[in-house]
Amino acid sequence: MKMSKEIIEPVKDEMIFFYKKFHNSMFTKVPLLNRIINFIIKRKGKQIRPILVFLCAKLVNNGKVLEKTYRGASVIELIHTATLVHDDVIDESNYRRGYFSIKALWKNKTAILVGDYLLSKGLLLCIENKDFDLLEVVSLAVKEMSEGELLQIEKARELSINEPIYFEVIKKKTASLILACCATGVNSVSKDLTLIKRIMKFGEFIGIAFQIKDDLLDYSNEKIGKPKGIDIKSQRMTLPFIYVLENSNLKDRKWLINSVKKYNKDSKRVSEVLKYVKNRGGVKYAEKNMFEFHSKALKILLSFPKNKYRDSLEFMAKYMISRKS
Ligand code: IPE
Ligand code: IPE
Ligand code: MG
Ligand code: MG
Repeated sequence: MKMSKEIIEPVKDEMIFFYKKFHNSMFTKVPLLNRIINFIIKRKGKQIRPILVFLCAKLVNNGKVLEKTYRGASVIELIHTATLVHDDVIDESNYRRGYFSIKALWKNKTAILVGDYLLSKGLLLCIENKDFDLLEVVSLAVKEMSEGELLQIEKARELSINEPIYFEVIKKKTASLILACCATGVNSVSKDLTLIKRIMKFGEFIGIAFQIKDDLLDYSNEKIGKPKGIDIKSQRMTLPFIYVLENSNLKDRKWLINSVKKYNKDSKRVSEVLKYVKNRGGVKYAEKNMFEFHSKALKILLSFPKNKYRDSLEFMAKYMISRKS
């Protein structure tokens, strides 16, 4: 599913303007950094997060955004980009957005520094404009994301993960930034705390559904623009795998755990695991959970008065769980 016109249309002008501001916000005089930033700008990704910021602002403010909304969208996309650059180092992944990753082209040390640079630019943008409320929201998201990634690493190392821990990980590493998008959008135009809290809950639920979908894409047959089977290869056990592991007999459990522990770099073995997980209903089970979170998100969204921005958010929520990349 491609991002449809219905999603983007009500924020089309804002997104064109955003793109320029986002580029400017990364400005540097350092030649190597400049080359890498130009590379990042060319492969811009789906831009789900800035779109969410603008839609949430317009949802509650009669279709109007403010200068602060633009800053919020830029800060969040800067942080998101920083985490992806770092994530490919952590996951040892050479592909991103259908092309080579930063770490593949410029090596790990450069990728780490570029990620740090982007993160600091995001935080500085808040400080320069005295947006301390925005700074608090995004700093909290960065803290949560780091904790989520570290929890995931710890569980991968011990090979001990279960459903509650999986949900804690994805809430922290992914939903925290998505909910920050929604909070930032509303906060940029309104001081109504109950409104902000309500939209954050929508962000949290749709963020969780979004990461379940991401983990399902690792099992899909589609071209997704990043490597597949990489979760198992980097010893990351996601919901389809966890479900099957918890519902297999001792012999099969041993085979699954051993595959992740010792044969995670063996492509043939990894494909066998993917196939086994699919055949044993792991994908179906994860989909069921994803749909449940999507429904919970929708219920909150539909409690807002109907307008074209709410309709767009509804399409966006659908897109986030049915996207092909
Ligand atoms: C990827 O996010 C990282 C996750 C949290 C799953 P996106 O899928 O939004 O990445 P881009 O920006 O579109 O590449
Ligand atoms: C999301 O997890 C990473 C972040 C929250 C930065 P993944 O490791 O699954 O993301 P992809 O699949 O590499 O985009
Ligand atoms: Mg990754
Ligand atoms: Mg992934």
